[in-house]
Amino acid sequence: MKNIPFVDLKAGFAPIKNEVMKAIEDVLTGMNLNIGPNCQALEKEFASFCGTRHAIGVASGTEALQFALLAAGVCEGDEVITSPHTFFATAEAIACIGAVPVFVDIDPVTYAIDSLAIEKKITAKTRAIIPIHMYGQCADMDPIMELAGSRGIAVIEDACQAHGALYQGKKSGSVGNAGCFSFYFTKNLGAYGEGGIVTTNDDEIAAKVRLYRNHGHSSKYEHAVVGYNGRLDEIQAAILRIRLPLLDHYNQRRRDLAVSYYSLLKGLPIELPAEAAGRHHVYHLFVIRSRERDRLMEHLTARGIGTGIHYRNPVHLQKAMSYLGYKRGDVPAVERICEEILSLPMYPELNRDDQEYIAAAIRDFYKA
Ligand SMILES: Cc1ncc(COP(=O)(O)O)c(C=O)c1O
Repeated sequence: MKNIPFVDLKAGFAPIKNEVMKAIEDVLTGMNLNIGPNCQALEKEFASFCGTRHAIGVASGTEALQFALLAAGVCEGDEVITSPHTFFATAEAIACIGAVPVFVDIDPVTYAIDSLAIEKKITAKTRAIIPIHMYGQCADMDPIMELAGSRGIAVIEDACQAHGALYQGKKSGSVGNAGCFSFYFTKNLGAYGEGGIVTTNDDEIAAKVRLYRNHGHSSKYEHAVVGYNGRLDEIQAAILRIRLPLLDHYNQRRRDLAVSYYSLLKGLPIELPAEAAGRHHVYHLFVIRSRERDRLMEHLTARGIGTGIHYRNPVHLQKAMSYLGYKRGDVPAVERICEEILSLPMYPELNRDDQEYIAAAIRDFYKA
């Protein structure tokens, strides 16, 4: 029996081990640890990768979202529209700054917020919209930008799962007023610890994010606003500078693996991911849908195949969000797909043999 993990971080580390160890040593030799030379260089390199004027390194994707919301002027009591089909942190970032998450259903093909359903939820209190680029594919940004722009509402892209994805030829994180990325270690661009970054073309948002990530520190001994300890760690920045130049190559590898999955899994009674027109999917996750999801998952586990569910419980039904008053049935497409989605192994080091083994196990489940 094979053993195919859901992600294989060790396989990703092996080819860059020497470079990473050297970079860590250099950081520790220099001891320039507070927004040091690697953090500053990474900010320039990531901004250039995304095609934005600014990128500001922060401590996590969650803080990227919090600081971007604050910098865009979202205050306590303001409403922020997003989708509950996401990692909890999207809604958590809104709630942590005292704003109110307002949940809208998704397009069940791209898994991103249903741009047509947003308008009905806009009120006088709406200050921002957070479209989430789920699984590595951008949300449909044009109608969202149009809706928001005419009403003075900020659009903050949650690009935490979509480093290098394209929308109509534009990089994720360069379309909205700001883009937020996570460098959690399993992401397409992951650190070996925690990290995040905010991208923006807006000088004012950039300046404010710089303040919020560093205790509101405006100059020596001066604090202009109450902020956070949310800086990007210098060792992580040094590691990310090694991994960023490899990102396009690794994203292409994920796309090639997706093509293999499509052909190996064709004809089975499962739904495969779809790439919408004008998008360039970077397959952070390869998510299929099955009516017998839990049994299929058990079947694959028993054959040594790691899988995941992203995510099993929609955010609007989480206990932590119960104060908002949502109930089952309020966001039907999200609730339905949460019972069917299953993430298959997807990482650049996965090989064709592994994929054939996975596909054979799924065919065996369906006796196909
Ligand atoms: C869609 C989404 N938003 C936000 C986050 C939060 O990022 P982090 O874990 O770096 O705080 C994640 C990461 O898991 C994510 O997948």
